[in-house]
Amino acid sequence: MALMDKHALLERNATLLLAGSLLVVTIGGIVEIAPLFYLQNTIEKVEGMRPYSPLELAGRNIYIREGCYVCHSQMIRPFRDEVERYGHYSLAAESMYDHPFQWGSKRTGPDLARVGDRYSNAWHVQHLVEPRSVVPESVMPSYAFLEDTPLEAKGISAHLVASTRVGVPYTQEMIDNAAADLKAQADPNAETAGLEARYPKAKLGDFDGNPAALTEMDALVAYLQVLGTLVDFSTYDEAAGYR
Ligand code: HEC
Repeated sequence: MALMDKHALLERNATLLLAGSLLVVTIGGIVEIAPLFYLQNTIEKVEGMRPYSPLELAGRNIYIREGCYVCHSQMIRPFRDEVERYGHYSLAAESMYDHPFQWGSKRTGPDLARVGDRYSNAWHVQHLVEPRSVVPESVMPSYAFLEDTPLEAKGISAHLVASTRVGVPYTQEMIDNAAADLKAQADPNAETAGLEARYPKAKLGDFDGNPAALTEMDALVAYLQVLGTLVDFSTYDEAAGYR
């Protein structure tokens, strides 16, 4: 009976009920938030993740400028239908160098988190120039002008510097070589040993089918082709004890 009395007292006294609720919410809040202050990092590191190469980063800028994210997400959720369609669900670490991240929730078109290596460069160019020439029922806009727009490389090292300010681990060497790396990645005749050492698994070569010009199409396709390809999931899943 004593407990009932106390409960009745709490329920009938608005101030006491408010104070009690506040206490409960505070305890709950502390339990959830306090551990985060003691973690070095809330993102589990995975093997293979690296910052974008300058050309990929330039392509990402075009992706954002053109609003591709309005129709495409870049986050595969851990549901069976998504994993069967798109591949391994996305890991937080896979977008740790994305500022801002491109997760999204609007999917007019498919998720692009693992579109890298799925199609040839030529397919991407054809699809971006005229989506309906490869997917007749597509409602995606045409981006043919990217083929004729020279890639502006001037601000790229400044973009690397800015990225370091928010924690992307670009080294001074990467910053110093940014403009040269940007050009070399899309040039089939360039010396690329340094670039490949700085950006493992970077796709090399002429992306837009026009070796004579470095265009925005080169950058966008280089970006699309790296998406989801950096983490080797056969080793990741073994290390995590899955399968
Ligand atoms: C108005 C919505 C819309 C916009 C904006 C849009 N897309 Fe799409 N996209 C689609 C649709 C719908 C499809 C599926 C049909 C197709 O393949 O064309 C698609 C398909 C794709 C595919 C093929 C994916 C796959 O797995 O088959 C890629 C790659 C792609 N889009 C890239 C882009 C890029 C890059 C941009 C920005 C330059 C962009 N899209 C802008 C709607 C859009």
